[in-house]
Amino acid sequence: MSYSTVWQPLQQRLSSVIVGQERLLERLLIGLLGRGHVLLEGAPGLAKTTAVKVLSQAVNLDFVRIQFTPDLMPSDITGSEVLDKDTGMMRFVPGPLFHQLTLADEINRAPPKVQSALLEAMAEGQVSVGGQTYALDPLFFVVATQNPLEHSGTYPLPEAQMDRFMLHVALDFPSQEQELVILQRARSGVLSQPLPPSTLSLADLQQARAGVERLHMDVSIQRYLVALISATRAPEQVHESLRDTVLVPASPRATLALAQAVCARAFLHGRDYVTPDDVVNLLPDVLRHRLHLSAKARAQQLSVDAWVNRVLDSVKLAH
Ligand SMILES: Nc1ncnc2c1ncn2[C@@H]1O[C@H](COP(=O)(O)OP(=O)(O)O)[C@@H](O)[C@H]1O
Ligand SMILES: [Mg+2]
Repeated sequence: MSYSTVWQPLQQRLSSVIVGQERLLERLLIGLLGRGHVLLEGAPGLAKTTAVKVLSQAVNLDFVRIQFTPDLMPSDITGSEVLDKDTGMMRFVPGPLFHQLTLADEINRAPPKVQSALLEAMAEGQVSVGGQTYALDPLFFVVATQNPLEHSGTYPLPEAQMDRFMLHVALDFPSQEQELVILQRARSGVLSQPLPPSTLSLADLQQARAGVERLHMDVSIQRYLVALISATRAPEQVHESLRDTVLVPASPRATLALAQAVCARAFLHGRDYVTPDDVVNLLPDVLRHRLHLSAKARAQQLSVDAWVNRVLDSVKLAH
């Protein structure tokens, strides 16, 4: 069975380099297996770049890192047409998006035009240049990182396009104990060595993805997902304290993203069925970038996480 021979060892492999950050590692694999792009948010220095690099080595994906900067242009990521001196014809030179795993690092440091070019490519699986469209790799998977918005010199991402990300993961600082292990691994050289070559094949990845698609989700769980996402549209019906707290609710795309994500999480835990805990665990990451709270909510200092917790306390799974 591919779980115990492939995916469990792979998770251990990632953890042999990255200390802690289980949520980060799990979310990267959920995106990969659930066919969804992942946005990581956290202070610089929390192992975001390292984790994505290690993942690319561990799963044998053709990897590129694009550092987003204020002077980046859309054509720097999509590619552009250049004049071929030999033939005198225009020829398309593909940009870095034409890889399997793209790390879009610090996306909020680039202007909105570049962010839009990335988000469009993510939505459509293709790029258009000079009136022609070019298909991206069928495995095309984006992990983007952003610095917390308080950092200066950042451009907020276009809100309407944010839901092209399946998950928006918020990272925490390590504990003192974990930080000690990070220090020891760094001094032993583990962190700067590439992982030994991986044996994971494209067929393993495709098989796992197909397994995620077919994974059993009881109709009671399906109703639970729908009830939770619907709560963003009529929160006062869930709890009176949530009246007028939502400015922009979540769309059915959020429901579909949540369903894919919970199935991938179940798979990564070696189960062939989804549990309510998968849903509770992933709901904040599905809503963090989709749900826009109102001024009233902000005045009450209600965060999306706190909002989600209140909804989870009130909406129960009905059998
Ligand atoms: N949890 C961790 N496990 C292993 N190394 C870590 C961890 N957190 C930070 N580091 C180390 O700290 C440095 C910064 O990590 P990096 O991936 O560049 O951070 P980020 O991309 O989040 O800014 C790297 O040398 C990395 O190995
Ligand atoms: Mg980084």
